[in-house]
Order: sequence, then C-alpha cells, then structure tokens
Amino acid sequence: MTEKTVEIKISGKTIQAKLGETIVNALWESGIADSVKTGCAGGVCGACTVTLRYSDGRQGGTELACMKAVDAEMEVFPCPVEPDDPVMPVSHPELSHLQSAFPTLNRCTKCGSCTNSCPMSIPVMDSVLRMQKGEFQAVAEDFTTCIHCGLCRFVCEDKVKPHTMGLWLRRSLGLSREAKIEKNEDNNDWEYLLDEDPEARLEKARHYRRKGNL
Ligand code: SF4
Ligand code: SF4
Ligand code: FES
Repeated sequence: MTEKTVEIKISGKTIQAKLGETIVNALWESGIADSVKTGCAGGVCGACTVTLRYSDGRQGGTELACMKAVDAEMEVFPCPVEPDDPVMPVSHPELSHLQSAFPTLNRCTKCGSCTNSCPMSIPVMDSVLRMQKGEFQAVAEDFTTCIHCGLCRFVCEDKVKPHTMGLWLRRSLGLSREAKIEKNEDNNDWEYLLDEDPEARLEKARHYRRKGNL
C-alpha cells in the first residue's frame, strides 16, 4: 500500500507530507527543519510549540510539532515561547510571596484557554485558582508533568504566566524541604539510598512500587 501524500502549509509555504507522519518529520523530509525549533523530538522538552489552523474550517489549536500527525488542509505556525526572567525561589512560600513575585496572579479571568492549550492535559486554570487560595502542594502536583513548553502562557491574554508560577512554587517547596532536612526537622525517607546495602535498597524499591510508600 502506498503512503498517502497531502499538502500542508508551514508559515505560508506549501510542502508535501505523508499523512500520519509528525509535523517535525515532514519538515525534516522537506529540508526545512529550521522552521520549527526542535529539541527532543519525543514530546519531552517543549521546544516545538506550534499553532494549527485548517483551511476547511476544522478547529485548530496549540500542539507540539514532534507529536502531532500531519493531516490534510493543515496550516502550521511556529510559536516559539520566549523564556521569562528567572525568579529566585523562597523557602516556605506564602501567598504574599507568590503575589509579590507574580503580580499577574490575580488577573486571571477564568477563560480556560490555558487548560485547553496544554499538551500534557494539566488543569492549568484550576491550578491558578488553587494558587490564589494558597493550595501550593496541590499546585506542585498539578505541574508534575509540565514540560515547560510555555503554551499556557502564550495563549493567556491576561499575561498570567501560569507555568512560570507553577515552576516557582515547585522550586520553593523543594527549597523548604531541603531546609528542613538540613535542620534535621524532616524524617528523610530516602536516606536508605545512601546508607543501606544493595539488597535492602532493592527490597525497598520493590515495596515502594507495590504499595506506593516507604
Ligand atoms: S488563560 Fe490566563 S486568564 Fe485564562 S484561565 Fe488561564 S491563566 Fe486565567
Ligand atoms: S502547564 Fe503550560 S508549560 Fe506546562 S506543559 Fe502545560 S501548557 Fe506547557
Ligand atoms: S521537540 Fe521536544 S517536545 Fe517536541
């Protein structure tokens, strides 16, 4: 069976692509790899952000070009997301810290665009609302699978910067834990990784996989 070829557009330029291959692959095959930034080519690094439109009126949206399959009538627009200036994390973050580091927090109009844009299906808008209530542990969990592609920030017309805040909270909570361990205020569950013999480590790892705790 021969592979079906379709025409797609990349920033207005028409190329031939095989139905079902990834957009990144189609660009490589056409010799225009540079037209979309690419890193891991496996949906992990968040470099290859694009927006899509379909000339037949189907709804487009934001995607990772290395994960999205080519389809007929597809028009691809690269949307590289510029990184933000880093904000130093703080130990034991409070709502006032978050609000002062990110005054954009309270601008959220609950439009939902960030959630719709996320290629990792993170409930971004709900997480912004959790940030406003100071539910930081839950926010850190929400952003566990974030690949920092920046699409949630790209689509936010109110410039709220959800993933930048999520990352800052994760780093700040990590710093808090580190400070507690240093002061011996935290029972370090993972200490056995350094201390015990290899068999005991393996047994603990098996137990963790079975039961989900140490
Ligand atoms: S896109 Fe911006 S304004 Fe809309 S829900 Fe997300 S954070 Fe709030
Ligand atoms: S939360 Fe934002 S930055 Fe993280 S994966 Fe989703 S869209 Fe990308
Ligand atoms: S190139 Fe890394 S996510 Fe697409």
